[in-house]
Amino acid sequence: MGSIAIEIFGKKLRNPVMNASGTLGYGREIERLWSIKVLGAFVTKGLSILPCQGNPQPRIFDLGCGMLNSIGLQNIGIKRYLEEYTEFFLERKTPVVVNIFGFTEEEYIECALAIGDNPVVLAIEVNLSCPNVKTGGILFGKKPETVFRIIRGVKSATNFPVIAKLSQEVTDIVELAKAAFEAGADGLTLINTIPGVVLEENRVIRGGLSGPFLKSIALKAVYDCSKAVPIPIIGVGGIMNTEDVISFLRAGAKAVQIGTATFVYPNTIPKIVKELKKRRSFD
Ligand code: SIN
Repeated sequence: MGSIAIEIFGKKLRNPVMNASGTLGYGREIERLWSIKVLGAFVTKGLSILPCQGNPQPRIFDLGCGMLNSIGLQNIGIKRYLEEYTEFFLERKTPVVVNIFGFTEEEYIECALAIGDNPVVLAIEVNLSCPNVKTGGILFGKKPETVFRIIRGVKSATNFPVIAKLSQEVTDIVELAKAAFEAGADGLTLINTIPGVVLEENRVIRGGLSGPFLKSIALKAVYDCSKAVPIPIIGVGGIMNTEDVISFLRAGAKAVQIGTATFVYPNTIPKIVKELKKRRSFD
């Protein structure tokens, strides 16, 4: 079997396959099924400076055409995460992409500062699909100027590469990609889930839609942004199998993330990595 190692952000990864943020918990959970060492890099659940409880259950819905998640950003807080999991990833020699978010611009910077020079971190992935509490809840990632300010702020607070994770819930994602690049982003993750609603008894549940239907939308974002900015792109959205991974790499992605497919078949990632190794190239 051939090597499928890649180089990204100046580091060599075993392969171009990562998990999408939030789809493998904190890292330990999936090891009942397969070793985290299968991954090129592990992406954390979104982490904030203070712990978040998240939304009441139910918060994951199988819609047939895909999945809607309404987790509500639940996490244990970035400091506790790094204290409890750094050793785990060091032992497994698996680099970590730390996904961060905040409810104010300052909170993003505090998260970046909390990471310090942690030895397992490959990069910081900045989740911009978060409501800005100071402006009444408008998502940070909707406006090029807020994307610019947050990425510039995070860059000034860390020496690690900074990746902007952008949402397609905008008319022109290329404008956001350019704003992130101009602010100093070292990479982009494209795309996050798309907002949707589920009506459950008398509750209206808002969440993020994901699944195979997202692939073509995400491929377009990857293709268009890869022509517009000269930084590596991590493609995510609707990847269910090895052919989908190849499509993203051909569209201009340097690496990929796999999310919903793990909920359908928990061994999707090891299966794809094995199949990629059997191929001679990504063409
Ligand atoms: C969540 O925890 O609600 C999902 C976060 C995200 O998709 O950005």
